[in-house]
Amino acid sequence: MYIVFEGIDGAGKSTQINMLKEWLEANGFRVETLVEPTDSEVGKLIRKILQRPDATTERLQKTLGLLFAADRMLIMDKLEDKSKIFISDRSFISSLAYQEPAEWIDVLNRYAKKPDLLILLDLDVKKSVARTSGEDTFENEEFLTGVKENYLKLVENYEHQIIDANNGVNKVSSDIKKAVAPYLGICPDCIL
Ligand code: TYD
Repeated sequence: MYIVFEGIDGAGKSTQINMLKEWLEANGFRVETLVEPTDSEVGKLIRKILQRPDATTERLQKTLGLLFAADRMLIMDKLEDKSKIFISDRSFISSLAYQEPAEWIDVLNRYAKKPDLLILLDLDVKKSVARTSGEDTFENEEFLTGVKENYLKLVENYEHQIIDANNGVNKVSSDIKKAVAPYLGICPDCIL
């Protein structure tokens, strides 16, 4: 199973992924986590570009679309291992939410695997901006407002659960477990 976490910057994806991983392992599943952008050379280049003040311009967004798609291809083959649950911090759906134009991003990601379950951590944009460093050019209120709107439309195309990420860490974690349990045949009463 391929579970993808999406959400604007600062939504708590990495914390929640770790908590979900521990819980699934306690329930006897083998779990591997993935992160996009990766720590490959392409991922490093991406992180540099994200700090450029012009990162939101059309020219750089198109370039980033290509780089994110290339970076993603470096981990796609891992997903062929059927013995594990993969939980990914972002996917091509981030490209659809953050980059433009949509047709271009679709073509570039034709071979990216679709999630079996998409979990959108839905956070208020003001909270996101307060939680992030602002080091990346995407971490600003106007841009992230558009990204959040994009996400709410995009999720409709996939099997998904929207989780309110404005709550405390433990509440968010238990909401995620409740959302995931039915997909894995875990009994609802077994959720800690
Ligand atoms: P992020 O998950 O925030 O990494 P970190 O926690 O190290 O800052 O990802 C970096 C940024 O990249 C984030 O603003 C979202 C953006 N992004 C895209 O614009 N398109 C993509 O396809 C992906 C995977 C990420």
